[in-house]
Amino acid sequence: ISEISRVKNLNRLIIGKHEVEAWYFSPYPPAFAHAETVYICEFCFSYFISARQLERHCMHCTLLHPPGNEIYRQDDLSFYEIDGRKQKLYCRNLCLISKCFLDHKTLYYDVDPFLFYVMTVTDEHGSHVIGYFSKEKESMDQYNLACILTLPQYQRKGYGRLLIAFSYELSKAEGKLGSPEKPLSDLGLLSYRAFWSETLVEKLINFKGEVSIEELSHMTSFTTQDILHTLQSIDALKYYRGQHIICLNDSVIEGYYKSLKKNRRTINPQALQWKPPH
Ligand code: COA
Ligand code: NA
Repeated sequence: ISEISRVKNLNRLIIGKHEVEAWYFSPYPPAFAHAETVYICEFCFSYFISARQLERHCMHCTLLHPPGNEIYRQDDLSFYEIDGRKQKLYCRNLCLISKCFLDHKTLYYDVDPFLFYVMTVTDEHGSHVIGYFSKEKESMDQYNLACILTLPQYQRKGYGRLLIAFSYELSKAEGKLGSPEKPLSDLGLLSYRAFWSETLVEKLINFKGEVSIEELSHMTSFTTQDILHTLQSIDALKYYRGQHIICLNDSVIEGYYKSLKKNRRTINPQALQWKPPH
């Protein structure tokens, strides 16, 4: 019975001008549970049961960007840092949306222990949220990311990669190593694997001379464990004359030069205006 009621709870979400289907149950209040569509303000993430209610809200909603400090800007791309303790409602509303696309994570009603890093693209109408990740203020386990989401309408365009890259830029600024909280979803794992291997292959191809796992870890803020797993997965760890060596095979190198042609957006560390909070 509980399975059935869960399935029934899957809504359609209207977010700004986009319409998306929820993938999983999300605990919106009971009045919304059986609504076919949930209408969401794309700026403050307040939710409504009808288009009319959302319209009325939009006449009064003054938010044109996330409610926090803008800590990064490069061209039209920005990141905002938001303290869960100071912006409880905003962060809870964001978690409700993200739960629609995550089946395994516990939804944190208690947003206080987290910082939220929200990525936007700005146009003449405002700064539109593309995705975000959350991060524990104090992590005992070297986690530098708790939850990550690219809103479905923006997925598979390279934004997840930018969110992940940004999480490691923060770790570099902190002088720490980091890794995402486990377990990762299938899509999370795919995205991390792609990011880790592309980053390491790029470092290895451009590095002159010998480099150790520890040095790679220092350059990237990846944990040595994530590096070892990644190098194994691309078959780059060889045992040669009694020594472990890192060696990229031709298809990996070819893949790297192909990916260069995609001309992807990257994070510019110089555009980060941020000191680790303490
Ligand atoms: N199928 C196959 N590979 C995929 C994939 C998919 N649906 N989505 C991502 N990948 C892999 C690809 O290698 C991709 O690179 P490519 O497009 O050049 O081939 C790489 O990951 C990065 O993709 P990108 O476009 O940067 O990611 P995204 O913006 O789509 O965001 C997530 C990735 C994980 C954030 C997004 O899928 C998401 O929000 N999922 C729901 C929430 C979730 O599961 N979060 C993780 C657990 S907390
Ligand atoms: Na969550």
